[in-house]
Amino acid sequence: MLLDQWGRPLRDLRLSVTDRCNLRCTYCMPAEVFGPDHAFLPRAELLSFEEIERLARIFVGLGVEKLRITGGEPTLRRDLPDLISRLAGIAGVRDLAMTTNGLLLPRLAGDLKAAGLARVTVSLDSLDPQVFGQMNGLGVSPQKVLDGIEAALRAGLGVKINTVVKRGVNDAHLTELWRGLREFGPVRFIEFMDVGNHNGWNMDSVLPSGEVLARLAEAGPLTPLAPAQRGEVATRYRDTEGHELGLISSVTAPFCGDCTRARLSAVGVLYTCLFAGQGHDLRGPLQAGASDTDLRGQIQAIWQGRRDRYSEERSEAGNAERVKVEMSHIGG
Ligand code: GTP
Ligand code: 5AD
Ligand code: SF4
Ligand code: SF4
Repeated sequence: MLLDQWGRPLRDLRLSVTDRCNLRCTYCMPAEVFGPDHAFLPRAELLSFEEIERLARIFVGLGVEKLRITGGEPTLRRDLPDLISRLAGIAGVRDLAMTTNGLLLPRLAGDLKAAGLARVTVSLDSLDPQVFGQMNGLGVSPQKVLDGIEAALRAGLGVKINTVVKRGVNDAHLTELWRGLREFGPVRFIEFMDVGNHNGWNMDSVLPSGEVLARLAEAGPLTPLAPAQRGEVATRYRDTEGHELGLISSVTAPFCGDCTRARLSAVGVLYTCLFAGQGHDLRGPLQAGASDTDLRGQIQAIWQGRRDRYSEERSEAGNAERVKVEMSHIGG
């Protein structure tokens, strides 16, 4: 089995298909930085669907079982259902999911499901139009996201919801959010993280998951659930009616020890950590005519050399100054 320097296998591949987004969440692509003049990745440099499929097959041959499509906002990539059907056709893929802001799901959910997508994780940070509008940077209403969630459920897609919690921004009504969203699927509260280089992160704006749990427990008793599999990012709970709650505590309880995730950017750069400064270019060799065996060997060597455990090292000297990959290049 292919293992990295800390004995972690390669199990999940997250494929970013665009760095563009139709929102400007303050914690990811703040509008002041990602403005009208921002230079996105040149379209001509994006991997084609054939190239993505080819690389995905090689990764699956090395042990990957879960594929997740990310962005930016993946639904902005033209003809996305074509890519989904290519990926769904790879033998050995046990799970095919997508992380999205949900805005385009009313238009796309049916085609994505028909192409073989199993489930979506939709981001929604508040049901308060004022708060959500401020957090998404463009004043977009939470109802637009709820419409997307409903479209996904109607299409038969599995749905999870991701909420990034920022202290003093959207933490005032967490129980209302939990009560309002739990009917749709598991709701996961994510500690605000220091991803990228522009989101003004500091520890004061993190609401530790322990506090989130204490507040939500006021809405009714929560029972801890055992992890369903190794490397799960969320610590899960269930309420008395069977709704699932997840806490993703990358800041206060890092889970690097079990991290089996690789991330491929839209231009074919492989990152072995969400907080990596440098990636490994696979598009160069691919377009220079490397064989599958060559590419497999390169990916194998990269994974075998992997030592990343950023969330566990966050507080160590020098880490605050580290230049990291942007979230919009690797999709969280
Ligand atoms: P499931 O397959 O449904 O369990 O999804 P997942 O939890 O693997 O993926 P998802 O994209 O929904 O992850 C939720 C959030 O957790 C991400 O958006 C990130 O914010 C955070 N996250 C996921 N993977 C990592 C990781 O490897 N490191 C850190 N620090 N955070 C992560
Ligand atoms: N901290 C925590 N989660 C984040 N996400 C994006 N930026 C951050 C951050 N700074 C989450 C989004 C979405 C996924 C792509 O990553 O809410 O669910
Ligand atoms: Fe777009 Fe998602 Fe980033 Fe928000 S978190 S700006 S929706 S990519
Ligand atoms: Fe994996 Fe890096 Fe996240 Fe740790 S910080 S869990 S190594 S992606």
